[in-house]
Amino acid sequence: MVLEGENLVKIEQMAPWFGREEADAVAEYMRSGAWITEYARTREFEDALANFAKSQRCVVVSNGTVSLFVALLGLGVKPGDEVIVPDLTQIASANSAILAGARPVLADISPDDLSLDLADVKRKLTDKTKAIVLVSLNGRCPRIREYVEFARSNSLRLVEDAAQSLGSQVDGKQLGTFGDVGSFSFSTPKIISTGQGGALVTDDLKLDENFRRIKDFGRIASGVDKHVTLGYNFKFTDLQAVVGIEQMKKLPWRVERKKKMFDLYRESLSRVEQVKFIDTDTKQTPPWAIDIICEKRESLISFLSRNGIGSRTFHPPIHTQMPYALEPQGSFPVSEEVSRKGLWLPSSSFLTDEQILEICKEVKKFYQ
Ligand SMILES: Cc1ncc(COP(=O)(O)O)c(C=O)c1O
Repeated sequence: MVLEGENLVKIEQMAPWFGREEADAVAEYMRSGAWITEYARTREFEDALANFAKSQRCVVVSNGTVSLFVALLGLGVKPGDEVIVPDLTQIASANSAILAGARPVLADISPDDLSLDLADVKRKLTDKTKAIVLVSLNGRCPRIREYVEFARSNSLRLVEDAAQSLGSQVDGKQLGTFGDVGSFSFSTPKIISTGQGGALVTDDLKLDENFRRIKDFGRIASGVDKHVTLGYNFKFTDLQAVVGIEQMKKLPWRVERKKKMFDLYRESLSRVEQVKFIDTDTKQTPPWAIDIICEKRESLISFLSRNGIGSRTFHPPIHTQMPYALEPQGSFPVSEEVSRKGLWLPSSSFLTDEQILEICKEVKKFYQ
């Protein structure tokens, strides 16, 4: 329960969901003479992720921000390069390019699926463009193959920021496995969590080796202090991995639950003309958060809050945020409008159908 202003929020927009299984696994691990730092359990978690994504390799790191940074470094992005990033995403997608010393070049999004607008990407291409960070916002990127083709034909590297997309597929293939590398996040609100955490998946064994070195001081092997490249310490911990292994067992159920939740919200609010849903194929996509595009958003937020229901506004357009606002990059009309009207409704996987219907009833009452 969270206090928002004077109102008691009974249904939060998102809440963590760890259970007895995680608690028991951590207790057992701690009694086993654990080193805690990353070791065998981390490899086990990586294998579980690689198997789930049907990817050749998976490397876990401290969070989904450094995983993007490691992806760009591992692909050879360097100072002087430009990286195209959508204007509407969590800010880490763009910050990772700055971390790598490159210039993030913002492009607008498409109103249909909130993915990068390829026409704007084409306008932003220069001879310095080295890579695209393609964000599958809330698990959607139905036209992923167009971006893969575009990147290939322009000799660009494609980093899929799939932080919000674990469990989302296109033609039965996990998002994050179409580009050169895919990046996931396991921060607490995600479909599964290790508190903090990130992962890189790739089928390129050479890239996998680059990523492993960059996250471990640039060493040739763990514990061998011979440094062949510039590297950092972005390692995971086995303590998180034991939580992640248990969460992975719950992932298939949560994927199906998120799909059903989205269908239920969409169906229940289908006659509310002030509320629109982004086109979503729930056979393939379990939206991580229930997102709507709505009129009178700020009043709706207050109304829901007064009735014990939490919600959260979409990410702000990156070009409006410091330090990006210091260097104007043109106009982003779709990103601005979607950000202004976008709202996340309660989305925790443990919500019951009754709670969802109750939330929808309040939304309907507000617009009546
Ligand atoms: C699209 C996107 N990219 C990157 C990140 C950063 O991940 P982390 O919070 O694990 O650093 C997030 C986190 O929410 C995200 O949603």
